[in-house]
Order: sequence, then structure tokens, then C-alpha cells
Amino acid sequence: MERGNGFGSPIMVAVAVLVFAMVLMVPEVSATRWTVGSNMGWASNVNYTIWAQDKQFYKDDWLFFVYDRNQMDVLEVNKTDYELCKSDHPLHNWTTGAGRDVVPLNVTRDYYFISGKGFCYGGMKLAVHVVNPPPPPTIAPINEKSGSPSSVFRGQYVLPTVFALGALWDAFVWFW
Ligand SMILES: *[C@@H]1O[C@H](CO)[C@@H](O)[C@H](O)[C@H]1NC(C)=O
Ligand SMILES: *[C@@H]1O[C@H](CO)[C@@H](O)[C@H](O)[C@H]1NC(C)=O
Ligand SMILES: *[C@@H]1O[C@H](CO)[C@@H](O)[C@H](O)[C@H]1NC(C)=O
Ligand SMILES: *[C@@H]1O[C@H](CO)[C@@H](O)[C@H](O)[C@H]1NC(C)=O
Repeated sequence: MERGNGFGSPIMVAVAVLVFAMVLMVPEVSATRWTVGSNMGWASNVNYTIWAQDKQFYKDDWLFFVYDRNQMDVLEVNKTDYELCKSDHPLHNWTTGAGRDVVPLNVTRDYYFISGKGFCYGGMKLAVHVVNPPPPPTIAPINEKSGSPSSVFRGQYVLPTVFALGALWDAFVWFW
């Protein structure tokens, strides 16, 4: 008991620092793959205006359309055709035939999707506004000279790791 295993003990401090360092190691910005309609999928009984309204779509996110491949499809159209449910001149036909289509949102703009085959009139239409992601918080200096992605990657990891190892060593010394 003299050594104490509570939160004030060196070993607990070291553990806390390690956990903190591991949190820092998780890449801060990652693209989101949105399953359209969440667990309802791309279907005729979902209001996609409501589904999309509390979501922030960032450049390089993905949309994942899951649906009945025998009935629906995924067509990207312009604003006019989205509003009128016109599917005869899609900008892009994302339908692959598997009922599982992935659309990269790789441009900051408005995207409009509908299902043809009459389903758009029943509400199968989705508009998403894609914006640039917020700049990542700078937590560790990144070596300006390191050009390759892997060195940037490593640069973010080295500092927390050094701190964590230092704290662990201190704890070890205090403990014994
Ligand atoms: C959308 O495309 C249709 C043709 O499919 C065209 O008539 C219409 O003007 C276009 N609307 C916009 C906003 O570009
Ligand atoms: C979209 O592509 C799929 C698969 O190639 C095809 O079966 C379908 O007819 C196309 N739909 C339209 C509206 O072009
Ligand atoms: C976005 O993705 C589409 C489909 O994969 C591709 O054709 C297009 O070139 C991409 N645009 C940019 C700006 O990367
Ligand atoms: C979806 O909900 C919005 C907001 O409540 C409403 O304005 C819109 O008409 C609905 N769309 C459909 C297809 O029911």
C-alpha cells in the first residue's frame, strides 16, 4: 500500500500518458463512408432530405447506396432533373448491378441523386452539399522537408511516443 496504486502513482501517470499518446496517434482526419439512409438504405420509404439535413459532407467522403438491385438504381442528375425527377439524361449512372454502389464525393459542390424507374416521384432523391473538411489541428510539428506521405505520418507519431517513453522511464525509476 505504501507505493500506492491510485491515480497519483507514477505507474498510473505513465499509463495515462501512454493512453493519451495513443489517442494522438489516431489520424485526426479521415473520410467518412456514408451509408445512404443509414440502416434503411436506398429505399422508397425514406425521406432523404431529412436523412441528410443533420449531416456534414466533406470532400473525399463517400456515399454508399445499398438497395434492391432488381428494382432501384442510382443516377446522378443536375438540379433541374432532381427537382423534376427526370432520369433520361443522367450526368452519371452509378448503377453497377450489385445493389451496392459507392460514389466518391471528390469535388466541393452540390450533388443530386435520384432513383429512376419511377421511384424518384415517391421520394427517392438525395441532394448533398459537399464542402472542404476543416483544417486538421496541428498537434506535432511536421518536418517541412519531409516530402513523402510516410515521413509526415511518422513525424506525427514520434513526439507523442518520445513523451510516453520518457514518462514510462520516469515512472520506472520512481517506482523502484
Ligand atoms: C439539366 O439537364 C437538362 C437536360 O437533361 C437540361 O435541360 C437542364 O437545363 C439542365 N439544368 C441545369 C441546371 O443545368
Ligand atoms: C445504368 O447502368 C446499368 C449498368 O450498366 C444499366 O443496366 C442501366 O440500364 C443504366 N441506367 C441508365 C438509366 O442509364
Ligand atoms: C472524381 O471521381 C470520379 C469518379 O471516380 C472521377 O471520374 C473524377 O475524375 C474525380 N475527380 C477528381 C477531381 O478527382
Ligand atoms: C421530406 O421532408 C421535408 C421536410 O420535412 C419535406 O419538406 C419534404 O416534402 C419531404 N419529402 C418527401 C418526398 O416526403
